Amino acid sequence: METTLLDILYLLASVGFIVGLKMLGSPKTARKGNFYSAIGMSLAIIGTIFIYPKVAGLHIKSFVYILIFVAILIGTLIGWGIAKKVEMTKMPELVSFFNGMGGATAALIGLMEFQHNIGHSSKMSMIVSGLVIGSISFSGSMIAWGKLSGKLRKPIRLPHYNVLNSLLALLIVIFGIYIIAAQVNNPIYIYILFFLALLYGILFVIPIGGADMPVVISLLNSFTGLAAAFGGFLYDNMAMLTGGILVGSAGTILTVAMTKAMNRSLTAVVFGAFGAGSKHADTGAKIKGNIKEAGPSDVAILLNYANKVIIVPGYGLAVAQAQHVLHELEELLTKKGVDVKYAIHPVAGRMPGHMNVLLAEANVDYDKLVDMDDINNEFPNTDVVLVVGANDVVNPAAHNDPGSPIYGMPILDVENAKNIIVNKRSMKPGYAGIENELFYNPKTSMLFGDAKSALTKVVQELKNM
Ligand code: TAP
Repeated sequence: METTLLDILYLLASVGFIVGLKMLGSPKTARKGNFYSAIGMSLAIIGTIFIYPKVAGLHIKSFVYILIFVAILIGTLIGWGIAKKVEMTKMPELVSFFNGMGGATAALIGLMEFQHNIGHSSKMSMIVSGLVIGSISFSGSMIAWGKLSGKLRKPIRLPHYNVLNSLLALLIVIFGIYIIAAQVNNPIYIYILFFLALLYGILFVIPIGGADMPVVISLLNSFTGLAAAFGGFLYDNMAMLTGGILVGSAGTILTVAMTKAMNRSLTAVVFGAFGAGSKHADTGAKIKGNIKEAGPSDVAILLNYANKVIIVPGYGLAVAQAQHVLHELEELLTKKGVDVKYAIHPVAGRMPGHMNVLLAEANVDYDKLVDMDDINNEFPNTDVVLVVGANDVVNPAAHNDPGSPIYGMPILDVENAKNIIVNKRSMKPGYAGIENELFYNPKTSMLFGDAKSALTKVVQELKNM
């Protein structure tokens, strides 16, 4: 009876994860998807705490239950507090931090279960694999968190770091196999393996920087999923296994999608150290030429007489929180008979889907958001492109400059439009730290200023026309 109930709860939990993940695929259903996944996780936790001990014949003392509930309460309060407070632009570092916690949990399972499973080589392989992958994910995610929150600014590259890292990875694999094969019974071995894996996680992420960070986070995400799946195998826990596999595969798919969007191979991300050795990295090459400035009224006139306008949102839109006034501008233009669309680059902003979420917050019609591949051939017959706080994703160096760190990355081909307006506060570079020749294009006019106040002025001018 209890076994059946537990199976049903785990099955419902797995369905919650799968349906939730599917719904996260669209901004329209994402909120509900998150909710269904949370329900799934709650069912899995309830089943594990209240029913699993009976099925496994464990006698849990009431004071252990008290400890469990206190831990859940503390975790919930901390998680709730952080998630409630976090700004949209700080989301990637939060994801990194939470992912690290998942990795740490998988690693702790390994440390705890080692003693109880000496002599069971199949269980020991799950323990060792989960511990190694979880520890790498934990320490790697913590470094990624430090980098994204600006605490660790520069990538640190030890001499021959690739060789060093590869040797360490090999050592970990050999040592792990030895622990399983030799059925060692001294816990010191598993602690050595744990520290080696932690060290590898640090050395693996610390040389990586720049635009490769989101890819690394997504990769670490898939590691955590894999580590959790090993836990699921170990405990024969279907919900844990499904959850782990879903996280692992979603992380892998996202990693591949992002590397494709940036035209980087995964090996280049892991071994290439973004920006290393490029003369343009960090400081940017000096582009010669003049820039043309435009005021809000010039921009309003240009937009007012256009037939077709494409808006390119970027990270600066999120910083300025200008999504609402941008939507107002779009509605105003549409009322005046202008055809307005938004061009969405897959890595615009600082997290996958950042622009979609931001624009959804302002109630922008989803049908107006067009993906890069679909909109790129529309630029030549576009009268005005309005770039708002975007930089790297419209940088023609990706096409024209083989020496650039972003060379080969697919971009929005805004330079093909008839007129280009770029709104940003200064001539400072974007995330990749490189200059942008688009700003010097004779077709480009720079509308300097914070996006919210600049767009508010443009809207005002348009209203007066
Ligand atoms: P960026 O290239 O980072 O450029 C953003 C621009 O916004 C900056 O040049 C900045 O110029 C401007 N800006 C900042 N605050 C502003 C404000 N208040 N008002 C107006 N403009 C403002 O952004 P992007 O084009 O969206 O490209 C994203 C970059 O981030 C890519 O390199 C991508 O690889 C990387 N990345 C992406 C992700 C994901 S998954 N989306 C995650 C991490 C990193 P000023 O300072 O002059 O204003």
